[in-house]
Amino acid sequence: MRAEHPKLEAGLAALGIDVRSGTSLSELTSLGIGGTTDLLRITKHDSIPELIGLLEHHDIPYKFLGGGSNLLVGDGELPWVILQLAKPDPEIVLEGNFAHVDAAADLGRTVTFCAKHDLGGMEGLIGVPGTVGGALRMNAGAYGMQIGSYVRKVKLYRAAERKIEILSGEQISFEYRHTSFGPDDMMLAVTLELPSKPFKEILQGIRICNEKRRSSQPLGQKSAGCIFKNPPGASAGRMIDELGLKGLSVGDAKVSDRHANFFVNAGQASAKDMLALISDVRGRVENAFGVKLENEVVVWNA
Ligand code: EPU
Repeated sequence: MRAEHPKLEAGLAALGIDVRSGTSLSELTSLGIGGTTDLLRITKHDSIPELIGLLEHHDIPYKFLGGGSNLLVGDGELPWVILQLAKPDPEIVLEGNFAHVDAAADLGRTVTFCAKHDLGGMEGLIGVPGTVGGALRMNAGAYGMQIGSYVRKVKLYRAAERKIEILSGEQISFEYRHTSFGPDDMMLAVTLELPSKPFKEILQGIRICNEKRRSSQPLGQKSAGCIFKNPPGASAGRMIDELGLKGLSVGDAKVSDRHANFFVNAGQASAKDMLALISDVRGRVENAFGVKLENEVVVWNA
């Protein structure tokens, strides 16, 4: 999809939107998979309601991209433009135990920045790729913690209301890899309340989590983290492993040899390859265990 109408281009320029035409989503996703479209980078949160109105006026469908680390995007020319927040400076402002963080901030950098100021709690999230906004939307978690526990306020674009709103933590429900945000809501900023802890202690926790992750996950390879959610009381990775499916591949899409719930792009995998592999593995697990695995990865397929 191209944002090419002259009136649209003028409108985008007036809103301070940085247009990068013909961007390949394979460069913006950790899987390294995805077709081509125009990327619209938002420099001012306040411009979003007008931007959405402008795109709708010109019949241009859009999708909102965070860090692209939990996402499988279709191949070829994509039927929507992509909206993404540009990173502001500064990304994080601290006020006592509160961290005010822009949604575009890198999650790992946020964890370490807070740690250096003796604010802990998020050690488990070290090594989870992506932005704070993406982590918030999915309620990212690892090693017994989840980001939702620390959320006190969220600034977001409410698609249903067509306006920017501020929600308190109590107005949002955070469940296992799921939140009450609407599918088209855009996360803009968050206030986290973090427990005080000496940096050295936080660092110790970070080191332990890093070590666990390094020993069990294929960190150097292109992946979207875990492909499936864990069904209640079970582990998708263990089930896939028990079926001997590590190394199973369709084209260059491959079940990781290290962790069976990570599917990696071992070269030039297409979305079609990856989707075929997901469907094959889901079918085999269902046949063997009677459990239909749900995607954890978000799929944008035309
Ligand atoms: N296991 C196997 N074979 C494998 C993988 C795992 O037998 O190939 C076994 C492990 O030995 C362990 C059990 O399955 O006994 C659970 O494995 P692990 O500790 O690796 O955790 P997981 O349930 O597979 C979850 C999250 C991860 C998160 C880790 C650590 C989900 C879907 N996955 O994985 O999150 O990093 O716990 O807390 O909830 C993600 O969200 O993308 C993600 C990777």
